[in-house]
Amino acid sequence: MTAAPLLPVSLTCNTDLRFIDLIQVVGSELLKHMNFSHEDGERVWLAIQEGIANAMRHGNKLDKRKPVEVTFTPLANRLEIRIKDTGAGVDLDALPNPNLPENLLKPCGRGVFFMKQVMDQVAMESHAQGSTLVLVKLRRSSEQPEA
Ligand SMILES: Nc1ncnc2c1ncn2[C@@H]1O[C@H](COP(=O)(O)OP(=O)(O)OP(=O)(O)O)[C@@H](O)[C@H]1O
Ligand SMILES: [Mg+2]
Repeated sequence: MTAAPLLPVSLTCNTDLRFIDLIQVVGSELLKHMNFSHEDGERVWLAIQEGIANAMRHGNKLDKRKPVEVTFTPLANRLEIRIKDTGAGVDLDALPNPNLPENLLKPCGRGVFFMKQVMDQVAMESHAQGSTLVLVKLRRSSEQPEA
């Protein structure tokens, strides 16, 4: 019998950095279900954490009343994570490169760069009520479910 496809798992919480730990409980379990190695799972989780922190800090300006919605969609060949906030978003291609000499000593501006290193796709979608960061991690064939 083939395994049933996994449905998207969605969590909505207030803008409060403490909720990142709560989302991690669900996210890391899901990564294990998808057969990601422990090391890959840790790196993917760190990237997701950066994305949620950005949604709370930059998108929702740390306003506790505003919601952040995180949706994990496990697919046969990839994991998609969507992180939605209520802000205007940002052009990810226009951000300064943190590795240029003039930026090396700046303490900020590394989150998006790290996400791009770990994930196979990083994109920002803007819509009427806010913006959504879309992260995609491909699964190696050894991590994919049997057909
Ligand atoms: N969800 C978002 N909504 C609006 N702007 C964003 C969002 N995510 C990122 N940005 C913008 O992109 C910039 C770069 O984000 P990045 O995570 O790389 O750095 P940072 O958050 O400033 O610092 P850190 O290295 O601590 O993550 C931010 O400073 C912010 O201006
Ligand atoms: Mg950041």
